[in-house]
Formats: sequence, structure tokens, C-alpha cells
Amino acid sequence: MRPIYAGILHGGDYNPEQWPEAVWADDMRLMKAAGCNAMTVGVFAWSRLEPAEGVYTFDWLDRIMDLLHANGLRAVLATPSAAHPPWLSRKYPEVLRTASTRIRQEHRVRVNYCLTSPVYRRACAAMAKQLALRYQNHPALMLWHVGNEYHDDCHCELCQQAFREWLQRKYNSLEKLNEAWDTAIWSHRYEDWAEVRSPQPWPAGEWSMLALGMDWRRFVTDQSVACFRNEADVIRKITPDIPLTTNMHQTTWGFMDWARFAPHVDVMCWDNYPEYHADAGDVARAIEVGFAHDFYRSAKRQPFLMMESNPGSAQGKRQKRPGIHRLQSLQAIAHGSDSVQYFQWRNCRSATEKYHGAVVNHDGRSDTRVFCEVAALGRELAALGEVRGTPVTTDIAVVYDKQVHWAAEYSTTARWDRRSYIQTAHAHYGSFWKQGLNVDVIESTADLSPYKILVAPVLYLLRPGVAESIRRFVEQGGTFITSYWSGYVDENDRAFQGGFPGPLRELLGVRSEELDCLDPEEENRIQMTPGNGLGLSGEGVVHHFSDVLHAEGAEVLATFVGQYYAGRPAITRRRVGKGTAYYVGALMDDAFLDRFYAAVLKDAGVTPFLSEPPPPGLCVRTREGQSGCFVFLLNFAPETRVLTGLAKATLVSGTAEKAAAGWSVPANGAAVLRLNMNPA
Ligand code: GLA
Ligand code: ZN
Repeated sequence: MRPIYAGILHGGDYNPEQWPEAVWADDMRLMKAAGCNAMTVGVFAWSRLEPAEGVYTFDWLDRIMDLLHANGLRAVLATPSAAHPPWLSRKYPEVLRTASTRIRQEHRVRVNYCLTSPVYRRACAAMAKQLALRYQNHPALMLWHVGNEYHDDCHCELCQQAFREWLQRKYNSLEKLNEAWDTAIWSHRYEDWAEVRSPQPWPAGEWSMLALGMDWRRFVTDQSVACFRNEADVIRKITPDIPLTTNMHQTTWGFMDWARFAPHVDVMCWDNYPEYHADAGDVARAIEVGFAHDFYRSAKRQPFLMMESNPGSAQGKRQKRPGIHRLQSLQAIAHGSDSVQYFQWRNCRSATEKYHGAVVNHDGRSDTRVFCEVAALGRELAALGEVRGTPVTTDIAVVYDKQVHWAAEYSTTARWDRRSYIQTAHAHYGSFWKQGLNVDVIESTADLSPYKILVAPVLYLLRPGVAESIRRFVEQGGTFITSYWSGYVDENDRAFQGGFPGPLRELLGVRSEELDCLDPEEENRIQMTPGNGLGLSGEGVVHHFSDVLHAEGAEVLATFVGQYYAGRPAITRRRVGKGTAYYVGALMDDAFLDRFYAAVLKDAGVTPFLSEPPPPGLCVRTREGQSGCFVFLLNFAPETRVLTGLAKATLVSGTAEKAAAGWSVPANGAAVLRLNMNPA
């Protein structure tokens, strides 16, 4: 696949079909003024492209593609399948989505299609083919964008039947399904495939069988991938050299297992809408957003695209403060994005998103604060062209696995209202963020060979092969860290027998007899064992979760101070083969995690990029260029931060100043440095 663009992409969703042509020339002028180079067209434009079945009206899109080209802009050409026209719903009601209530929805909003309907699939494939044939040789065509943010499920009879067929392929026989789902509980045993139905929320229908819920979510993801492939396969036949993608959404959002799309897209991309300077502390937000960027980069172990972001504010929300747009955009680049794209180019006039931040506001001006910030960023990105395609390298991976997330959130026992799976993952990831280290965020089934350190907090569910792959990783010299509430259930949510953490028990050398869920106001502490092998002393604070733990061959690094398990192991370590396996038997405070991971890094022989951690709130990330590396300094703190070291680096762009003490970055500032690794 050829690289899609020489530099960083800058542009976004452009909906000329919503505007009279008189506006288009002005759009082109403003796009150039804003330093845009890539516009996404066609996303929801089906009714303007096919006003009646088989009647195609591409003339306006021809003119737009020509205009983009004439103005030096490239097109991210989208298929319109996320918003099919009302005539399709009227003519073929089966294309409409059915809610979990089993009631077919009316034609509404968008993404209102059935995931299985052959009529919908045929209509999408036909449209994709027309688009590909028409624009295959158009010089503006740069990247295909199929659909838009796949989400949610359809419970119609077509989907029910497709689900059964999916299950038949997976389990072969009903007997095996009964066994896997443990249907002996509450007399749920199926005697006929027709009895298998999709889950429903309480009280309408079946919500108690978590294994059914897990398989339903897997099925819905596969069915969404199939919708994507339905269009992608047609397009790829016609334009094999043009890369193809779909825009995904937050890792935590809805129940799509986005990692499943990775083998089918040429580049991962996602839509990023954080609210900096809003309700959450900005460092916490930066950690959360960085984590998501790292997930999308790691899924294909290559740079990704940020396909949407908001240059202004979300409607009804606090305006983005000056400089925040630039900081957020450079953050994406720092984590491996090759683009800064927006939703939306020009504020639409009507409907629900008319006050959603856009590059061009309803006043149509180019001297607004937002427009000026976008244009300045456009100039800066143009100067950062060399960064495009450069990898982010690291020895460290944190596991975020959507299937573990489903199971953990479904779980009816632990106190998930207190601290969720994803927050725990963010907390552990945050310790590396604060050290200025690059991190990959991977699924539990990913190839572990590139890493020296693997962190998998709350690995509640173990997918097939995961325990074995972690064992091999440790035996071959890796350092593995996991926590309480790990190794509890198999992929069908069946509890492991013989002691937790199940298949990880022997490797870790511990057995958790009980998981204690503390009351919200309760606090416990752990005490480092004198002379422990990590060289740590003092205490750490525990909230919400702690294990009643037996060390079975593991070295005890810390013990609990309070509760009926005072004096019992809290943190353990076991050397296995050439590697090490740690168990953190409690939800620890962030300050403790930071100290713990600093010591673990040392023990694992991983030298941080910086000789000492950056000051609080300053994020330091790197991308490897041909002749050296690009160092990103992103200041999420409310005041100036000074980074000591990197004296040999030079400023490529941004607001940092080289002072005697080091690199000084103002509040909300960001800078890109170059560090020449090549002494010649
Ligand atoms: C999503 C969609 C866009 C738009 C934005 C608004 O990401 O893909 O079409 O609705 O949300 O934030
Ligand atoms: Zn359906």
C-alpha cells in the first residue's frame, strides 16, 4: 500500500452536499487559508448520490473532487452507508434496525441499518462499486473511508438467525453450546437452536446469562466487520492501491471490539473528542486520551489517523481555551497519529450539530479565534512533515482487552461502581506516562515478543492461549505485572476451578482465597517488607479491593497493615525462567504505583528515555525518525514546566525555550524537538 500523503494530514469532514454551490469556492479559499490538505467527503451523502434506486447523481461530487484537486487538496472519499436514504427504508423495511425490545425502529438519525439485511448489504455494495468505478483514477482520491462509526446492534429476525449460524460455526453442536454457556443454571438448557435469542436488558428478556451476552457482543462486532468488508472488498478490487479504513470511536464506547477491525483496514483511525479544561483534571484526561491513541497505534503497530476531532467546543460545553486545540492535536501526533482531522469543516445550519465546534463558524469568517488557531496549526503541521510515518517504539505494553472489559463490567460480584476496568488500566498506564515513556496498549492475545514489560491489571477474563503466552513471555525473560481480580473466568465467563488467579496461579506463585471489596470510605495500607528485593520502603494506600492472599512460591514484597488479613502478602514477585512475574493484590494509590513501577523498570533493566522523570503534568513522547528522534513535550500542567536534560536536542517547532536549566514549556504549551542519535 502506498503511503497516503507526503506529510501530516490536516482537514476534516466536509459536507458540501448540505450547501449551495455558491459557498464551495469560499470553502476552497478558506481551506487553503487554514492550511488544510485532506477533506473527507461523502460520509452521509447517500440521498444526494442515489435519490432513487439505481439512479445515481454523482455530478455534484465530480465537481467537488475536481475543485479539491484544483486547489491542491486530497480527498478522503467516504461511502455513505452510515446514513441510508428514507426511500430505501420505505421500499425495504428489513433494512431498518430492530431494538432490543424487538420493535423495529422507524427511519431515524443515522446508523439505523440492520447489520444482516441482504438488501442493505446489496445496496451498500452497489453504491461502493459506483463510487470506486467513478473515482478510481481521480487525482484527488487518497484514502477510502467506509461507513462511519459502527455501533450498536440489531435484534431483528435476520440478525437472530445470523447469530444462530454464527454460534453453529463456533460450537458445532447445541450440546457444546449448552456446555460452554453452562445452561444447567436456572434451567436454561436449549433443546433446539430456535430457542437461542439475543440478550435483552432487564426486565424484558434474558440478561442473566453472561456467556450469551459475551457471544452476542462478539457476533455484533463480527457482523459490523462483515458490513465493512461488504463494501471494502468491492472497492479493493477496483482500486487495489488506494488504502482503506473506517473511523472508529473511543475504546470504551459502546460494545464494539475495535481490535477486530485491525486486520481488515489499511490504517487504524479514530475520532477523538476529549474535553480538556472541563470537568476532569487535564493530566487525568491526557492519560486517558494518550491511552486511546496508543491503543489505536498498537492495534496494527503502525501510525494511525485521528479522523475527527473538535477544533472548537462540543455544543453547550465550555469553549476550548486558547492553545488547547494545538496541545490536543500535537498530543495525537506524539502518540503516532499522522493526521489532525476535524468534525466539521463548516458548521451545519440545522439539526442537532449546528453548534458543534467547526473550523468555519456560522459567521463564515477567517479571523475568528478558532480559525486562526487551526490555520496556525496547519502551518506548524506542514513543517512537521518528516514526522509522518515514523514509528513509536517501546519495550512496554499495557493490556486493554475489550473482551476482558465486557466481562469485568458484566460481573455481578465486584464493586465496579467504585473503580472500573478501564480506570485501573489508566492508572497503571499513567505511571509510565509520568516517567516520559512510550507505551503500547495491546489486547491480551497480541504478540508479546516485542516487549520486555507486560502490564495487565485486572486480567479478569483469560482468552484461550493467553495464560500460555504470558508464561512463555516470562520464561523467555519478560517482566509481567498483574493484579487482584485476574484469572477469574474463561472466555465464556465460567469461573476457573482450583483457586484464583486460575491458569496464572502457578506462574505468579500466589493463590487468592478471597477478594475483599472495601466500603467507599474505608482505607487500608500496605507495608513494604524490610529488605525486599525491589528496594522499596514505606507504605502504600489501598482502596476498594484487596486480596486475601497465599504466597505459594512467590517472594513477598509487601504485606497488608490492616483488616483481618494484616500481615498477609499484598505484593509478590516470582522469578520464573529468565523473567519475573509480579502480583499486586490491591487497588493501590497512584503515588505508590509510580514508585513501584520505577523500581520494576530498574529491575527489568529498562532504562527510561530521560535520566529523571519529567516534572508533573509534562508528557514526553518520542517518534523515531530516520536520522534521530522527534521528542514531543506536551505541558498539561497549569503552569510552566522545565525539563532538565536533552541539552543536545534542537527545537523543531513550538513554544519551548532552551533555558540554562533545560527546556521550558509554558502552561498548555507543546513543542517538538529533534534529538540527533547519529553522532556523525
Ligand atoms: C461522531 C461522528 C460525526 C459527528 C461527531 C460529533 O464522531 O462521526 O459525524 O457526529 O461525532 O462529535
Ligand atoms: Zn437485523
